[in-house]
Amino acid sequence: MKPIKVEHPLIEHKLAILRNKKTGTKEFRELISEITLFLCYEAMKDAKLTEKEIETPITKTKVHVMNEKDYVFVPILRAGTGMIDGIVKMIPNAKIGHIGLYRNEETLKPVRYYYKMPKGIENKQVIIIDPMLATGGSGIDAITLLKEDGAKDIKFLSIIAAPEGLKKMQEAHPDVQIYCAAIDEKLNDVGYIVPGLGDAGDRIFGTV
Ligand code: PRP
Ligand code: URA
Repeated sequence: MKPIKVEHPLIEHKLAILRNKKTGTKEFRELISEITLFLCYEAMKDAKLTEKEIETPITKTKVHVMNEKDYVFVPILRAGTGMIDGIVKMIPNAKIGHIGLYRNEETLKPVRYYYKMPKGIENKQVIIIDPMLATGGSGIDAITLLKEDGAKDIKFLSIIAAPEGLKKMQEAHPDVQIYCAAIDEKLNDVGYIVPGLGDAGDRIFGTV
C-alpha cells in the first residue's frame, strides 16, 4: 500500500519546531503528542461506527459511536511511548500493547527485549506507533511479531519516515497502511534520517 503523508499547515509548523535542535524536552514532548493527534485523526477515517439511540435534553435521536476497545495502539519502545499521550487524548479507552526493540548501533538490526499485548488482537485493529521510520528494520520486525501473534489488520503511524525505510516496509508488509507527517530526503551512513530530528528517544526522554 502506498504510504499516506498527512498534510496540513499546522503539521508543517509543528514539524519545523520539532526538528530544531534548540527545542527543549518539554516542547519536544508536547509537539510529538500534538502531531500524533493529527496522524491518529487521519488513521481513524475508516473507523467502524454503529448506530445507537440516545436522548438529548430535547428529544430521542440516533447517533453513531465507535467501539474504542476494538483498537490496540502499540508503541515501539522507547520513542513510541512518547506518542501514547496523543492517542489516549483522542481515544481514551483504546487498548495499549508494547513492543520493546532497539537498534544495534553497529548492525542497525532491531533487537527485541519486550512484548506484551492485550488479549484478542486477532479481532482488533492494531496500530503501531513510532516517531521514526528509518531503515524500517524496527517496524518490519514489530509487524512480523504481531502477525505471528494473530494480528490481521495492522496500520503504522510514524512522524518522520525515510524513503529507504518506506520502500522496505512496503515490500515486507504490503498489506500495512503507513501514515506519516513527513517523508525526508535520505538516511545518513549511520542510519539516521536526514534532515530528521536526531534521536527521537533521546530527545523525548532527555537522555542526550
Ligand atoms: C528508533 C526509533 C525506531 C527506530 C527506527 O528507536 O524510535 O524504533 O529507531 O529505526 P529503524 O527504522 O532503522 O529500525 P531506537 O532504536 O533508537 O530506540 P529508542 O526508541 O529506545 O531510542
Ligand atoms: N531513530 C531515530 O531516533 N532517529 C533517526 O533519525 C533514525 C532512527
